[in-house]
Amino acid sequence: MLKGITYNDISDTQIKIYLRPLKISDAADLYQNIKSRRVKEYMLDLPNPYRYRDALSFIRRAQKELKKKTGYTLGIVHEDTESVIGVVSLTNIDKKNKNCELGYWLGEKYWNRGIMTQAVQKILQLAFEKLKLHRISAKSFAGNLGAIRVLEKNHFRLEGIMYEVIYRNRYWHNIFLYGILKSDYEKFFK
Ligand SMILES: CC(C)(COP(=O)(O)OP(=O)(O)OC[C@H]1O[C@@H](n2cnc3c(N)ncnc32)[C@H](O)[C@@H]1OP(=O)(O)O)[C@@H](O)C(=O)NCCC(=O)NCCS
Repeated sequence: MLKGITYNDISDTQIKIYLRPLKISDAADLYQNIKSRRVKEYMLDLPNPYRYRDALSFIRRAQKELKKKTGYTLGIVHEDTESVIGVVSLTNIDKKNKNCELGYWLGEKYWNRGIMTQAVQKILQLAFEKLKLHRISAKSFAGNLGAIRVLEKNHFRLEGIMYEVIYRNRYWHNIFLYGILKSDYEKFFK
């Protein structure tokens, strides 16, 4: 299913990574990396508290979606240790309209090395070149400057603001809605 796309050429100056489908044996790595407060802070739709069994259910759901081709949730694997240090995903795939939604997170100790920018670039390649999608959307908390920067470095366009759409920790939060079209991808990456 993922033939024709190589994931093992993503690297930065220090840490080499590649993307692959998640396995049940990745649950401990997922749990270790996601449980930090700063990783969870800006995540939408995450169980709270997050337990080991939540990582297991997440992987099972990802595997089912992959089988049905309704979602592509891939582990970001540290090449030296073979451990999963984060996740990048295409979910809610609308086959009729060739749309989907991008999601991503990375273990805190790996932040700000350009890893997610490259992981997103690679999943865009999968989305537009292999799956032949037309549009990808992404949502971010307005205050999540790192996540927004990842989108902007990958040429996503700010399409709108969903005002006070999330109520969390006694405050209403704005969400930025971003999108990228296949034509944008071809313009900037080809
Ligand atoms: C958002 C996240 C995925 C970014 O991953 P990453 O590998 O650190 O991203 P990159 O290193 O590729 O790029 C981050 C960019 O944001 C910038 N950045 C990070 N924090 C910032 C801040 N507080 N203010 C301004 N810029 C910031 C970095 O400098 C970098 O930009 P640069 O390359 O121009 O210097 C990671 O921080 C994360 O997993 N956060 C928690 C989960 C999350 O928020 N997921 C997204 C939900 S929408």
